[in-house]
Amino acid sequence: MKKTIMATGNLGYIGSIMAPVLIESGYEVVGYDAGYYEDCYLIEAKQALKKQIKKDARDVTPEDLEGVECVIHLAGLSNDPLGEFHPSLTENINFKATVRLAECAKKAGVKRFLYASSQSVYGVSDTSKDVDENGAVNPITAYAKSKWRSECELKKLCSDDFVITCLRPATAYGASPNLRMDIVFNGFMGNVWTKRPIEIKSDGTPWRPMSHIRDITAAFMACIEAPAELIRNQVFNVGTADNNYTVRQLAEAARRCDPDAKLTFTGEHTDPRSYRVTSAKILTVLKDYYKPQWDIEKGAADLMNFFKEAKFDLDTFDGYKCTRLKALKKRIADGTLDDNLRVK
Ligand SMILES: NC(=O)c1ccc[n+]([C@@H]2O[C@H](COP(=O)([O-])OP(=O)(O)OC[C@H]3O[C@@H](n4cnc5c(N)ncnc54)[C@H](O)[C@@H]3O)[C@@H](O)[C@H]2O)c1
Repeated sequence: MKKTIMATGNLGYIGSIMAPVLIESGYEVVGYDAGYYEDCYLIEAKQALKKQIKKDARDVTPEDLEGVECVIHLAGLSNDPLGEFHPSLTENINFKATVRLAECAKKAGVKRFLYASSQSVYGVSDTSKDVDENGAVNPITAYAKSKWRSECELKKLCSDDFVITCLRPATAYGASPNLRMDIVFNGFMGNVWTKRPIEIKSDGTPWRPMSHIRDITAAFMACIEAPAELIRNQVFNVGTADNNYTVRQLAEAARRCDPDAKLTFTGEHTDPRSYRVTSAKILTVLKDYYKPQWDIEKGAADLMNFFKEAKFDLDTFDGYKCTRLKALKKRIADGTLDDNLRVK
């Protein structure tokens, strides 16, 4: 019998790729999403789901999880600017609702709970070594704190029958029907496609670990398929053997897609972050299950094809659809979301 997977956040940037891949791989998928960015799709992308639950994660009940074997929890406020927009909401949605969801899942007899944490928990600025899962955490922003607190509480719920695994993806990149351009490499590629210069507000030397959204999807699938003893109460960085890029390397990879693209470095450092991360653990422990396929060059080519298909232009780039904070502010202004990000 097909396993039933609940994917929360299935209508977001990563979820819009992950849910169809899970379905193609033979799983039945129940989507759970409040639909904050439903009107942000750049191309049509229907998901052949078993069921779509349109509901706020803060309101989940055990009944929502009946018949589900594994939960992949992606839903949440997905970056630092959203977190700072309203820190207490980030706490409620990213932390409290995550714990509530896991408690409901445990009650409903779900076997596995796979949590999308983030490498922002490291908050590191030391590039002398690649940080692994045992590296010290130093969550600085409301977003990073919510991810770290969730990991800590989830661990307490882990048991023989209820396997919890926390995955920490690097910053994502790549094409998705519900594209985000508020993440570094996609933003550079958008500049190239729309013939705008890529302006780097540094000398380009800071390091940024990166992970393609289809490799992130593959990592979650690996955790569905691997024996429980390999993943129980484990934390995995998600990336590749070669996932650390400098901002300069990212910008140059983008520029290689168009020989006329302009690239400037202002030399000022407005963002102190620079960090390198190793994904050696997932690549060894889950080597029979997780085989990443993507690198920046391949992701760049795929994005160019997507921009063409989606007729991506400057208006779309500068509008609300591809920037999460703008999308939420627009919905609040339109009156379709209240100040607590409840759908009206
Ligand atoms: N994109 C990245 O670079 C990256 C990197 C590491 C970790 N992550 C994590 O992966 C997850 C997915 O990221 P993404 O880029 O797809 O984000 P996204 O913002 O595109 O999607 C998040 C989805 O969650 C839903 N959601 C938000 N709050 C909700 C609530 N209260 N109730 C129900 N649904 C709600 C939204 O409607 C949206 O569809 C997030 O948890 C994010 O923190 C993302």
